[in-house]
Amino acid sequence: MWAWLQEHFPRRHPYLFVDQRVAALWGKVLDEKGFGPAWIPWDAREDSKRLAAVEELARTALHRGADRQSVFVAVGGGVTGDVVGFLASIFMRGVPVVQVPTTLLAQVDSCLGGKTGVDLPEGKNLLGTFHQPQAILVDAVFLETLPAREWQNGIAEVIKCALLDDSGLMETLESFAQAAKGSQGIVYPLPQEMTERLVFQSLRLKARYVAADERDLGVRQFLNLGHTAGHGLETLSGYTLPHGHAVALGMRVAVRIGILMGLTHPDLARRLDHILDAYQLPQTTPLVADPDALLGHIQHDKKKGTGGLTWIVPRDVGRIERHTDISEKIVRESLRVLQPLKT
Ligand SMILES: NC(=O)c1ccc[n+]([C@@H]2O[C@H](COP(=O)([O-])OP(=O)(O)OC[C@H]3O[C@@H](n4cnc5c(N)ncnc54)[C@H](O)[C@@H]3O)[C@@H](O)[C@H]2O)c1
Ligand SMILES: [Zn+2]
Repeated sequence: MWAWLQEHFPRRHPYLFVDQRVAALWGKVLDEKGFGPAWIPWDAREDSKRLAAVEELARTALHRGADRQSVFVAVGGGVTGDVVGFLASIFMRGVPVVQVPTTLLAQVDSCLGGKTGVDLPEGKNLLGTFHQPQAILVDAVFLETLPAREWQNGIAEVIKCALLDDSGLMETLESFAQAAKGSQGIVYPLPQEMTERLVFQSLRLKARYVAADERDLGVRQFLNLGHTAGHGLETLSGYTLPHGHAVALGMRVAVRIGILMGLTHPDLARRLDHILDAYQLPQTTPLVADPDALLGHIQHDKKKGTGGLTWIVPRDVGRIERHTDISEKIVRESLRVLQPLKT
């Protein structure tokens, strides 16, 4: 990686910002790859995704000699990618950034597309920029140390891509699940060859949407499949519900809306449930016990001035539609799909 950076940025000095958990787990390997002591470790947590952290990292980099001729490298999950990407976009009016994602979510989703940002107390990602990475270096080996919950967060985004994709990602997921069925089912970490295929296919799909709509004003919004209800569930839970669980549940709601509108065949719901189950993602949540509160949080999106509540509805695998006119009655009815079964 070091040699790669020197080859591709011969006149720029690299500054590596490394999630300190990754530094603790993978520091030796990074050293062996030639990084030496050139990194700046930082405490990457969602609640440190703040402007204050950006200022602190900028000052540390300055004291280490960073200037307009530097290249910043983000080594970590989505939090590190977003914060370091943001810093790179404004540091001395902008330096190039290279993304080295180390969570599955970051490898299949956040490393690509150029969205950077930090949170405010009022909400997530409210300050940010578009700053495309000059390169993305993905190595599935990092995922060996990833906890199961983080695997689920990434897999939920892969399943989302599988619904959007018409070139066989769903079939890939289904065949892995089928092959694992004979033994004990899917176990995390997934084998590296399998992960590489999932990462490659997911990034290829995301790249297609980003290339068509870099600024997220049109088709890129299809990537929000499962996130309309998902964000509502996350905020209602006070962010205790993992993002991947929220997206899994949100995808069930989106498919249910399609079925209630007469757009989607019920078989798609069965297919989705089968995949969610195989990859250990939830199908129901007690959060739906107060539908008014949930609906309130879902509709909050509307207030962001995005021109109404947008639902991304799959008619079938690879056949996706955007709807802004779904009635509250249909939404309420579709949320019932998340009710835990009474025993
Ligand atoms: N920019 C985008 O387009 C985009 C897209 C999706 C999500 N995001 C953002 O990404 C963030 C979520 O990303 P995330 O889930 O990667 O979060 P994260 O960066 O917090 O990583 C999750 C956890 O995994 C740990 N970790 C990282 N690599 C590891 C490894 N190899 N082994 C063991 N542990 C490891 C981290 O320390 C952290 O505890 C959110 O802030 C979200 O807003 C951005
Ligand atoms: Zn997501």
